[in-house]
Amino acid sequence: MAQNIYDTPDFFAGYSQLPRQVLGLAGAPEWDAIRALLPDVRGARVADLGCGFGWASRWFRAGGAASVLGYDLSENMIAQARARTDDPAIEYRIADLEELTLPASAFDLVYSALTFHYIVDFSRLAEMIHRALVPGGSLVFTIEHPVYMAAAHPRWTEDEDGRPTWPVNGYADEGERRTDWFAPGVVKQHRKLATTLNTLIAGGFDLLRLDEFAPTRAQVTAMPELAVERERPMILLVAARKR
Ligand SMILES: C[S@@+](CC[C@H](N)C(=O)[O-])C[C@H]1O[C@@H](n2cnc3c(N)ncnc32)[C@H](O)[C@@H]1O
Repeated sequence: MAQNIYDTPDFFAGYSQLPRQVLGLAGAPEWDAIRALLPDVRGARVADLGCGFGWASRWFRAGGAASVLGYDLSENMIAQARARTDDPAIEYRIADLEELTLPASAFDLVYSALTFHYIVDFSRLAEMIHRALVPGGSLVFTIEHPVYMAAAHPRWTEDEDGRPTWPVNGYADEGERRTDWFAPGVVKQHRKLATTLNTLIAGGFDLLRLDEFAPTRAQVTAMPELAVERERPMILLVAARKR
């Protein structure tokens, strides 16, 4: 059973105050980098996996997508998503991605932001997504970068100025990582970069483009709290296509 941390009150209260939830996509500093990876969505049937408040789902529709199905484990997140639209071509559903099976060849684009690092069985998910896409269909997703995830291992240290040194501890030890973020014991799944990419290749995807998001200097000037994101990659972005 997947951990549903987004439905615990303390976590949800904290998470809801993040700029990316208050401001939507404009509050996500990596959004421009994601956009650069997305295909033309006009007329596309889109699935948004781990849709959260549904900001991206609504952006796809505004960009001309024919329909968007957003899935999320959290009742809180789905309630927020549903409250933000009355568009009949967007549907938000509660589902656990560890178990979800989408209909075959039903989507032109499967999108996911910052969710797959919660998934234990990424091979199953990748194969399921592959079946759900039409031939040539796109998979675009972001995850916490595996270097960031490994650096979140409790053994990281600080230098004499209190600045995190971010060693990549335990990088080869794949599996569960627990962090305290809005609530104690948030469970994430660390996979090596090679494991994630090789899983996609073995699952029948061609890799089109990768990115490792770091804020620009202008973004850091505007939001000084982003400075640490230039110390190590925080977010991995992947664009792939069904062979
Ligand atoms: C960091 S949030 C990202 C939300 C949204 N994609 C965004 O970018 O704003 C991660 C989301 O993944 C969802 N999630 C985590 N594990 C899941 C699972 N096993 N099945 C479905 N959704 C899951 C959480 O409930 C949460 O809404």
